[in-house]
Amino acid sequence: MSPDAAERASLAARHLDLVQAPFTLPRSRLLVFRADRGDLTGPGAVDGAPPATALRVHTSEYERGLDECRVLDELVVRDAAGAPLPVTAVLPHAIEFGGGAASLSFAGPTALSIGVEQVEHLGHDEALVVEWRTPDGRGHREQVGPGAGVRLDVAADRGVRHAASASHATDLAATERIWFDWFDRCPSVREDLRQMAAFCWWVLGANIVELPGLGGARGVVPSKIGYVGVWQWDAYFIALGLRHGDPALAREQLEIAFRFPGEDGQLPDVVHEHGVLASSDDLPAADRDRLRRAGSQIADPNAPVPLTKPPLAAWALAKVLEVEDAPDWARAQLATIRRSQDWWFAASDLDGDGMPEYGHPYSSGLDDSPIFDGPLPTTAPDLGAYLVLQDLELARLAERYGADAAGDPVAHRERAERTLASLLALWNADAGRFEARAAGERVASDAIVGFMPMLTGGLPGPVLDALVEALADPARYARPWSVPTVSAADPDHSSERMWRGPVWVNTNVLVAEGLRASGRQDLARELEERTVALVVHGGGPHEYFNPETGLRAGSATTAFGWSAALFVDLAVRLSSAP
Ligand code: GLC
Repeated sequence: MSPDAAERASLAARHLDLVQAPFTLPRSRLLVFRADRGDLTGPGAVDGAPPATALRVHTSEYERGLDECRVLDELVVRDAAGAPLPVTAVLPHAIEFGGGAASLSFAGPTALSIGVEQVEHLGHDEALVVEWRTPDGRGHREQVGPGAGVRLDVAADRGVRHAASASHATDLAATERIWFDWFDRCPSVREDLRQMAAFCWWVLGANIVELPGLGGARGVVPSKIGYVGVWQWDAYFIALGLRHGDPALAREQLEIAFRFPGEDGQLPDVVHEHGVLASSDDLPAADRDRLRRAGSQIADPNAPVPLTKPPLAAWALAKVLEVEDAPDWARAQLATIRRSQDWWFAASDLDGDGMPEYGHPYSSGLDDSPIFDGPLPTTAPDLGAYLVLQDLELARLAERYGADAAGDPVAHRERAERTLASLLALWNADAGRFEARAAGERVASDAIVGFMPMLTGGLPGPVLDALVEALADPARYARPWSVPTVSAADPDHSSERMWRGPVWVNTNVLVAEGLRASGRQDLARELEERTVALVVHGGGPHEYFNPETGLRAGSATTAFGWSAALFVDLAVRLSSAP
């Protein structure tokens, strides 16, 4: 074990509170939480909480809430007199009770192991009692003597079998080894970012699940609590962080995302353990209800609508190849990316004007953005910008890996120019912003999508100046914590509601990339610094943040994949010379 790995594991451990960060293992579907806290109830829910004594265990499954996936309740370790032993430490590889009298760890991805220490000086030469309840209400009690253990195996149907175990110490050591190997890969960053980078690296390891239908491929999911699958653009952002410590795992994310294109080249929105989500017909019922409640006009379409995610695949691929070249692998992926880029022009230019549209809000990744409040399809400045960027990337990649794989670079550049011209037609000079169109009609929303055209690096000076001014305007985007996803001056702004105001790490990174592509390196770096400062201030890589307080928005999930990955990516880049 390297001393660095041990240090990083202990830095990460400071964030393992069994509420926002459950105890888990790479590849495992088991999550251990403290039993006395329900789901997150607001920012800082754990601050000052007394130590837990009871734990609960859930499995992590695609589109199923934690409540549906309960496995064990009220898991308690008691001393010989019946008093519950408090949790005194949570480490990546073990939960310790009573100062180390007992510990809980993994025995492989599908089993937990609880063992009693055999250390005279701890004064525990008596047996302890391990007890738990299963969701059917049945209680179980096991006496466990010093040096002995009990193993709890969780089956695919969430049934639990228990048995005495003599291998707790071996299981504990094997689990510690897995985590140390993971932390050995954690990239080095500057001092003030080290603790959060270690925690974010833990999040990326913790979010690894095995996808049985995919030959055991390792998917790093957005969240084992809320999003158990490989979402198309999440995979891109997650790969950006992974590339610094585990380029092979970064490539594996892109491979999974690119593995199931439709016959027409469309990439699916999600790859999960039961298949893919590629059309509105595949949406789980809960999702359709959510769309209906939000008043979305696309909740019940007449015909299935394709679902995908923004065309940033070539951008992510190029970044992954920056750290380690893999020409054959790159060629194989490029063929898929190129067909998906063509798909947007062939199948998602719904009004046939040469500029593709979003046929569904989910395809934008910005599910509830106010730009989708009206009728669909939506012509959006972010989509135009991503398509320009992707054609430019494909042209560069074609020059490097050959036109056979990536297509004719000249054709890519010509299409990029045409798309850029359509994109510039969305500029409203009076309002000083790019606007979306809902079924052809102007959308007045002042939303973050309007900054994405900077990614093209091809904006006229006055347009770029107006965008830079908007970013610096306290009434619109320069909030205490920036960049809000909807301008604070917009009537639809809400500082707590998902894509209607909160700050997201991925959109910040894209805005910074755009500033850099447009020659504003100074502003790009400043925004990147503010983004890592936000994650540190907010206490972790949450899904999204309130722009006024810089804390987790109430409905945002924690230990979120792309926030963690992009923090790592930013921390590495900001730690090297400007
Ligand atoms: C939410 C986000 C979307 C993301 C998905 C998985 O639906 O709006 O952008 O891909 O979660 O994280």
